[in-house]
Amino acid sequence: MPDGSRTRPTPRHVAIVMDGNGRWAANRGLARLEGHRRGADAVRRVVEACPDFGVETLTLFAFSTENWSRPPSEISGLMTLFRRYLRRDAAELVEKGVRVRFIGDRAPLAPDIRALMESVEAQTVGGERLTVVIAINYGGRADIARAARRLAAEVASGRRAADDIDEAAFGAALFTADVADPDLVIRTSGEQRISNFLLWQAAYAEFVFAPEFWPDFDRDAFARALSAYGARERRFGALAE
Ligand code: FPP
Repeated sequence: MPDGSRTRPTPRHVAIVMDGNGRWAANRGLARLEGHRRGADAVRRVVEACPDFGVETLTLFAFSTENWSRPPSEISGLMTLFRRYLRRDAAELVEKGVRVRFIGDRAPLAPDIRALMESVEAQTVGGERLTVVIAINYGGRADIARAARRLAAEVASGRRAADDIDEAAFGAALFTADVADPDLVIRTSGEQRISNFLLWQAAYAEFVFAPEFWPDFDRDAFARALSAYGARERRFGALAE
C-alpha cells in the first residue's frame, strides 16, 4: 500500500512491456521470430542486471491474452522459445538465486509448457536474490474479472460477506496476490500504452517509455530507465513536502 511518502530512488519492483521485437527484426529484413529470439537474450541480460541495480522483483509481459490473434506460426514460435528458456535456463536461475513465478491463465497452454512452468516454479522456490514474475496468457481485465468471480463465489457460498470486499481483499484475489505492486512500469519501443498489463497493480506506478526496441534493451538502457524513475517524485496523491 502506498504510504504517502517519497520512496527510495531505486524501484523495488519493475514491470516491463517488452515491445518492438517484430520491428527490430523487420528493420533488419529478418523474420519476426528472430526478433523474439533476440528478445529472449534481452530477458537474460535484464534478469542478470536486476540484483546489481537493487531491483527485487521483475515482472515481464511475455504473452498477452490478445497475442492469440497473431499468426499461428508466430504463436508456436513464441511457445517454442518459452519451452527452450524454461528448460535451458532453469539451472542457471537456481544458481543465481532467482525465484520464478507465473501469472496468467495457464489452462489454454500446452500441457508440456504447463508442466515446465510448475517445474521451474518448484525448482526456484528458494531463490532470494530476485523474483521474476512471467506473465503468460495474462490480461489485466481478465485478472480483475477472475478476482471478481472468485470473490463472488465466496459470497455466494457464505464464506465471505459482501461488505468484506475492500481493496486488500480484491488485491489478494488477483494473480499477483503475494507480489507487491510495481513501482515502475517500463515499455520499450517508444509506444506509450499500458495494453491491458497490470491494470489494478499499476495504480501508483511511475511509467518510463524507453525508445529502444526490446532486443536492443541492454544494461545501459535499463540504467537510464531506472535513473528516470529516481528523478521523479512519487506522492501517491499527497502533497509535496
Ligand atoms: C512484443 O513485441 C513482444 C512479444 C509479444 C513477445 C515477448 C516475448 C519474448 C521477449 C520472448 C522471450 C520471453 C521469455 C520470458 C523467455 P512485438 O512482437 O509486438 O513487436 P512489434 O510491436 O515491433 O511487432
